[in-house]
Amino acid sequence: MHIHAYEKVWLAASVLLILFLLGSVTYGAVGPGIAMVSDGESAIDPGGIDEDERFSEPRVEQVGETEYEAYVVARQFGFQPDPIVVPANSTVTFYVTSADVIHGFEVAGTNANTMVVPGEVAEITVETDAPAEYGIVCNEYCGAAHHGMEGKLEVVSQSEFDGGRNGGDGE
Ligand code: CUA
Repeated sequence: MHIHAYEKVWLAASVLLILFLLGSVTYGAVGPGIAMVSDGESAIDPGGIDEDERFSEPRVEQVGETEYEAYVVARQFGFQPDPIVVPANSTVTFYVTSADVIHGFEVAGTNANTMVVPGEVAEITVETDAPAEYGIVCNEYCGAAHHGMEGKLEVVSQSEFDGGRNGGDGE
């Protein structure tokens, strides 16, 4: 079959266009920019959370004088630990990951709000002030019981926290 030169040009152009499209889709999927939720944190295997040293035991950990880290796992349909207990007047960084599907992590009534994507570790830092109780809600549709997926954040006095309300060994 004879192909016109003119037609060859169009053929070549359309192949280039397809390659460009594939390339840009691939770039969009694996290139920079997709890491918006992970915020630089290393990725995690959602199926291996029980073996992960950060998340096998969801907890609140003291890392500085008034600095704490909370390791939180979201899964259908709740958050661990529940409640999350943190001391008043401190800086708490939440590291939140999902064991199954996409969830949300929103401390109701505050601007602490992030998407929780399996394979990613979302990070948000909050400053706590006076003791109070907050609801934690999932704001991403995650299945049949999504509307009932909630947790609790308890900001307690330092002495109450030290008294073992963090659910751990009270360190
Ligand atoms: Cu979890 Cu909606």
